[in-house]
This record gives sequence, structure tokens and C-alpha cells, in this order.
Amino acid sequence: MSSKSLEEALSHRMFDKYDYYIRAVQQPDEDVKFFRDTYRELAGRTPHTLREDFCGTFALCCAWAKLGEKYVAHGLDLDEEPIEYGREKYLAKLTREQQKRVNIHNLNVMDPRAPKADLINALNFSYFIFKKRLEMKRYLTCCLDSLNPDGLLILDCFGGSECQSAIEDATKHSGFTYYWDQVDFDPVTHHARFHIHFKPEGRKKIKRVFTYDWRMWTIPELRDLMEEVGFSESFVYWEGTDEATGQGNSEFTRVETGEECESWIAYVVGKK
Ligand SMILES: C[S@@+](CC[C@H](N)C(=O)[O-])C[C@H]1O[C@@H](n2cnc3c(N)ncnc32)[C@H](O)[C@@H]1O
Repeated sequence: MSSKSLEEALSHRMFDKYDYYIRAVQQPDEDVKFFRDTYRELAGRTPHTLREDFCGTFALCCAWAKLGEKYVAHGLDLDEEPIEYGREKYLAKLTREQQKRVNIHNLNVMDPRAPKADLINALNFSYFIFKKRLEMKRYLTCCLDSLNPDGLLILDCFGGSECQSAIEDATKHSGFTYYWDQVDFDPVTHHARFHIHFKPEGRKKIKRVFTYDWRMWTIPELRDLMEEVGFSESFVYWEGTDEATGQGNSEFTRVETGEECESWIAYVVGKK
């Protein structure tokens, strides 16, 4: 191995990709409160069981278990690597009692053995891996079947004119820069590919740490499919804008209509 590739291999080995990922794109402690409050608003009671589909390192499950002794979480993922990371880094930080309420299943999200829940979340657009309408319909049907009465499916969704072209967006975080790199977008199929790169301060950019090959689903497509498979209602929560920066402010409110902008994030919520 050349000294250059040895240096790269060592640098990758020392680099904690899941830690950078959570710091750049997740805020599980805030998210679980929003999901609990949304359920209270739409179902009129407090949810206790959350299922995190495509859970990866299951940070959301751990945050859910911290909400109180009645809160039970189930995480589903096909890949043992992030699950193992979550066990070491996040589950281990919970109390014994909280740990007992976190259940991780190395399962496909469409597996009939997937546990039932009051709330199902598929976050960071993970369900965009389903490229065919029939596949998405099957996934939504599985979720509906797994939800308890009045249960909610919460999906995040993104779009806007900026997401329909190749573009690289850089965001500075403490100690590193996060890059969201859209490689392409096909207007005929709505297929798009993305990479996440990280540049630790004072080091070379580490490229293609995570890669995604998705179909960019739209809000009306998802809501129509929810209706088609039998969800009783669907709702949209739209992110507000920080007046100072013009960027999203992580505050989501229920809307009937959106706002034309270069890039937006919203939650699409289906009620059983
Ligand atoms: C982008 S990560 C999402 C991590 C986390 N949920 C988040 O919000 O950032 C997508 C995860 O989905 C998992 N995955 C992909 N297809 C799956 C399937 N059919 N069933 C279960 N997990 C799946 C992958 O193993 C990967 O860990």
C-alpha cells in the first residue's frame, strides 16, 4: 500500500462517521418531544410506543426511552454495523431501566414480525429508497397494519428548486464541515443521488462517507398514497424560517399550503 493510501486508510479508521452524522443531521431529544406533542394534538392522548424504522444507530429510540418510564421504543434496521454502534455509544449511556425499554430488531421494515406502535417514524428521508409506487404503497400498508388505533406515521420530506439540480451545500459545525452533495436529479423519474462528505478541521475532506440513491417523492404523492392504503387523514407540518439567516428554524407548524422556496423540509403525517 502506498504511503498516501495508508494515510487515507488510517484517517478513515480514526474517523467516527456516526458521531459526525448525528451532530450534523439529527436532534433526537428535540424530535421525540415534537412527535409526542404532535400525537397529543392529533390523537388527544399521550403515545407510549414508538417504532423507529431505518433506525441506524437508533438515537431516536434512546431519546424516546428518556421521556419517562412508560415510553417503549422499537428500532428496525437491516445493518448490524450502526446497530452495534448505537448499543455501544447511546444505549450504554441510558440507565438500566431505560435500556430495558429499548428493543432493537435486525429486521426489514416490511417484515410481518415488525412490532406494533402508537407512532412510526421514518426519518432523514430513508424511505426514499423505495423507487416504485407499488413498493411505497406496500411500505405504507405495512405501517398502517402495525399502528395501534389512532396511531401516526411520521415521515420527513424535502424538496424545492435547489433539490432538482446538482449542488453541494456546506455547513460548518464545531470541529468539522458537513457537505450535502447532490450528484444529479432526473426530472423524468425523480431519481437523485447524494453523498455526505465531512472535513474535520485541519484535515483533508473525507469523501462519500454516506451515499444515497433515492426517488424524490413529493408531499401530494405521499398523501395520495396514504389515503389510498387507508389512512383516515394526513397532515403536513412545515418548517418555519429564521428571519436573520433565511434558513429553516427547526420549528414545524401544521399548514394547508406551503411556500415556494429553494429548499424546504416538512413532516408528512398519516393518521390511522
Ligand atoms: C440514512 S440511514 C437512517 C438513519 C437514521 N434513521 C436517521 O434518521 O438518520 C438509513 C438506514 O436504513 C437501513 N435500511 C435500508 N433499507 C432498509 C429496510 N428495508 N429495512 C430496514 N432498514 C433498512 C440502512 O441499513 C440504514 O442504516
